[in-house]
Amino acid sequence: MKFLSILLGASMLAIASATSSLSRPNIIMILTDDQDVHMHSLDYMPLLQKHLMHEGTTFTRHFCTIALCCPSRATLLTGKAAHNTNVTDIITPHGGYPKWVSEGHNDNYLPVWLQALGYDTYYVGKLFNQHDVDNYDEEPAKGWTQSDFLLDPYTYQYENAHFSRNGGKPVSYKGQYSPDVTTEKMHEFLDMALDKEEPFFLGVAPIAPHANMIPAPLEATPPVYAKRHAHLFKDYKIPRTDNFNPDTPSGVSWVAQLPQLNDTVIDYNDEYQRCRLRALQSVDEMVESLVHRLKAAGVMDNTYIFYTTDNGYHISQHRMHPGKECGFDTDIHIPLIVRGPGVARGVKSMAVTAHSDLAPTFLNLASGAAFGGDDIVLENAPSAVPRLADLDGGVIPLLEDTQPSDSTKTEHVNIEFWGNAAGEGKYGFHGDWGVINTTVNGYVNNTYKGLRLIGEGYNLYYTVWCTNEHELYNVERDPGQVRNLLSSSVLNGLTASSDLLRIAGRPLAAVLDRLDALMMVLKSCKGDVCRHPWDSLHPKSRSSKVPVVNTLVDALDEQFDAFYAGQPKVRFDKCELGYIPSSEGPQHVSPFGKGNYNAANDDQVRLGHWSEWV
Ligand SMILES: *[C@@H]1O[C@H](CO)[C@@H](O)[C@H](O)[C@H]1NC(C)=O
Ligand SMILES: *[C@@H]1O[C@H](CO)[C@@H](O)[C@H](O)[C@H]1NC(C)=O
Ligand SMILES: *[C@@H]1O[C@H](CO)[C@@H](O)[C@H](O)[C@H]1NC(C)=O
Ligand SMILES: *[C@@H]1O[C@H](CO)[C@@H](O)[C@H](O)[C@H]1NC(C)=O
Repeated sequence: MKFLSILLGASMLAIASATSSLSRPNIIMILTDDQDVHMHSLDYMPLLQKHLMHEGTTFTRHFCTIALCCPSRATLLTGKAAHNTNVTDIITPHGGYPKWVSEGHNDNYLPVWLQALGYDTYYVGKLFNQHDVDNYDEEPAKGWTQSDFLLDPYTYQYENAHFSRNGGKPVSYKGQYSPDVTTEKMHEFLDMALDKEEPFFLGVAPIAPHANMIPAPLEATPPVYAKRHAHLFKDYKIPRTDNFNPDTPSGVSWVAQLPQLNDTVIDYNDEYQRCRLRALQSVDEMVESLVHRLKAAGVMDNTYIFYTTDNGYHISQHRMHPGKECGFDTDIHIPLIVRGPGVARGVKSMAVTAHSDLAPTFLNLASGAAFGGDDIVLENAPSAVPRLADLDGGVIPLLEDTQPSDSTKTEHVNIEFWGNAAGEGKYGFHGDWGVINTTVNGYVNNTYKGLRLIGEGYNLYYTVWCTNEHELYNVERDPGQVRNLLSSSVLNGLTASSDLLRIAGRPLAAVLDRLDALMMVLKSCKGDVCRHPWDSLHPKSRSSKVPVVNTLVDALDEQFDAFYAGQPKVRFDKCELGYIPSSEGPQHVSPFGKGNYNAANDDQVRLGHWSEWV
């Protein structure tokens, strides 16, 4: 594989003709809706395990960067953080398909780029929320050779789906099971794609295991499953992890106010998750039929299959009703499984990856480059295709010999969210849901920044909320994220030698100063800054006297204590429902060595100045 990268200096044409067919592989992306890792949904998909997990690599540290369908899909399809797409909600004014279009993304996203690289592009299933039976033909989704989109308000009606083929009039599939219809359509598109010479991209986005949404009056019920799966999982229960309906409330903001769930709700929630697992069986069967079809066509050795979802899901964890939109791992830690030529089989990758990495990774594959580094790809691609510097994600190291990948690609994931949160299911509804208005029906003040940071000897989640509440979890020692190290009641219960406080060998305050500064960089980052955020704090210098900082551990060197303590801290002036930077406090860090941080602040160092948040 090494030789491929040498060819990158040559033109695209030269690459295409000089390398094997591998340089133009087919790419298939299966995108489920709201699938969890935490409740072990993957364990209940035997065909997925057989055909993808055993034959490919499971990325065990994959995250979405915003735990809500439409914004997460926008990030996935652009390779840009939500603060750069500014598609931050499922409906207008801050999100939904109309916002996607008005922000200009419909002219400049993955399928458009893939077509410019000579790919045929196909998509079946759900694209975005608020892509509906009224607006579908006003500004059709661009970039697709063939498409068949689910449209609102029928998207989440499992037995009353409406699809629009290539921008045509919506067709009702009343009485048919939506995920099975998606599978049938996938096969139609496969037949077309396999008939042609061009390499293809195929997106398959069934709605399972999302809630079933019935309009007028609006109701979110457990997902509907196909009758053939009704007998399954009767004894399944949601894992009783320590974050399952805990005796002591966890989290901050609205989460900390939640009452404990009673047995009626717990029973309902267990059945809710059983319904989700059953709904996923249709997807499981789809995976097998897909692999069989590719094998029969003889293209399996030139095709990558990516299996993932838009965001995770919680049910009963932290006392929450079914839903997403939180920064806990239940909601952001999601499946990513990749099978394809050169991808290690039956392996778990420890690389830290995010949804913003998928578009760059697809482009990298499609542009015929080798993979595994940042500074590759696209330099010779047509102008319609972005350069890596235009995207916020990086290229996921897929190949066997790039595992485990280098640590600079493996440390941080920038998490963000704006707006309110909503519960789903019978008890998750707050009052009258005749209309969706989370100010009235949901949990307010769910705007926050999050930083997931994983490296050798540390595994952390740090958040700053719009209420200026803070959280820090030592996920290594507290995987359920129930012991917020910035809560005085948690801290008071710990001894100085507690395992929870062991973070890369430095005191909590020193760690916090670094996390906060890194978050300050990431919350408004673009391009290379998002990939290499420490460089903004420690600009690379030719002088060998300036220490190199690439990771938290590098930054934790005592010589930087005063520097980090003096950085402005992330805070909000106000809880907004969308990305309004003027309400989001300081925006900039002071780079090291520039001498412009305020040394007078050094006195505030250590727990002293953090304690005002606790
Ligand atoms: C993001 O969009 C909102 C409207 O949804 C707008 O008010 C805001 O100014 C935009 N933010 C940026 C940074 O452009
Ligand atoms: C359990 O909680 C639900 C939701 O708050 C409530 O509607 C129900 O009445 C409660 N059941 C019992 C037996 O207390
Ligand atoms: C939601 O309800 C709030 C409070 O009543 C109101 O101010 C707001 O305009 C409503 N939003 C929408 C989109 O209807
Ligand atoms: C939401 O946050 C605002 C600050 O922006 C605060 O004034 C308000 O009390 C909070 N509301 C709730 C219900 O916590």
